[in-house]
Amino acid sequence: MEKAKPWRVLAIESSCDESAAAVLDEHRGLLAHRLFTQIALHRRYGGVVPELASRDHVRRLLPLVRGVLHESQSGPRELRGVAYTAGPGLAGALLTGAALARSLAYAWGVPAVGVHHLEGHLLATRLEAEPPPFPHVALLVSGGHTLLAEVLAVGRYRVLGETRDDAAGEAFDKTAKLLGLPYPGGPELARLADEGHAGALKFPRPMLDRPGLEFSFSGLKTAVLHAVRDRTLSEASRRDVACAVQEAIVETLVAKALRALEATGLEVLVVCGGVAANRLLRERLAREVHARGGRVHYPRLELCTDNAAMIAVAGLARLRAGEQDDLGIRARAQWPLESLRPIEP
Ligand code: KG4
Ligand code: ZN
Repeated sequence: MEKAKPWRVLAIESSCDESAAAVLDEHRGLLAHRLFTQIALHRRYGGVVPELASRDHVRRLLPLVRGVLHESQSGPRELRGVAYTAGPGLAGALLTGAALARSLAYAWGVPAVGVHHLEGHLLATRLEAEPPPFPHVALLVSGGHTLLAEVLAVGRYRVLGETRDDAAGEAFDKTAKLLGLPYPGGPELARLADEGHAGALKFPRPMLDRPGLEFSFSGLKTAVLHAVRDRTLSEASRRDVACAVQEAIVETLVAKALRALEATGLEVLVVCGGVAANRLLRERLAREVHARGGRVHYPRLELCTDNAAMIAVAGLARLRAGEQDDLGIRARAQWPLESLRPIEP
């Protein structure tokens, strides 16, 4: 009997301002992943301009796909499916990836599956040498989302808490903008903060005094606005403001992550999304979680931010389990994580 071809998939990500493609093989792992970031394109506007994002995805995606196919020496004969980010995200941007993925799958005669972007982030650590065991708690902190979830298995997520307004990355970016830092301000603000004096200023810790695992970061932005408004800040004061902002965000994230571990009785924490790159967050979590006998896992840095490798992980699991989309080209701007179908191991 002829041996079944291994599952090898092409994945495409285009939900926001990163165009990305990857090829993942169930036995040989990640064979190629490439990315083009549109940061420079959006910087002069101080944030992502959806129409410009969509147009740039159209320009960038095909060369990226060609690149990963070439690098992984994959063609229609080797590939068994195509995965793409179907949501949540910017509708126009999502449609560019969906249309390309769907068309390639149709031309190659293989199934296509739309992946939930957050499921991608939650599963990015599966690409590491020692993936975290299930179940675990995940803290997903990006520019668009802030979420604590219990991850029971691939496809089985219980949302423990979310942000009521701004995401953690958005809070970094918006306060950075108030300090005159270029977009996206998170990493720049973190750099400035590391030179500031801790305790020189204190901003509110949103919702820390209340029970529960919800977040709210919009008040922080207002507090910073009051602190910097109508004032020319010295370089030292800017550093102190940045330091106080970072402290407020990190302290809130750490406290809620610990609360989630306690509430679930779990010991393993996975931190993913762009803000997982933050040095202070990593230091504090390491200290606090280790002190409680727990462990923290992160995807490698390049897989913390948006990428197609994580979409390939989720897509491969779903395609292998027999999931596939019909021929419609769909994007879902809203999509509850808990509505996903669980995948049996
Ligand atoms: O996951 P991601 O690439 O995009 C979304 O899916 O939203 O995350 C980008 C976010 C931005 O808000 C960026 O400012 C933030 O992650 N970020 C950081 C750091 N590096 C990236 N925030 C704080 N400290 C960092 N070192
Ligand atoms: Zn993301």
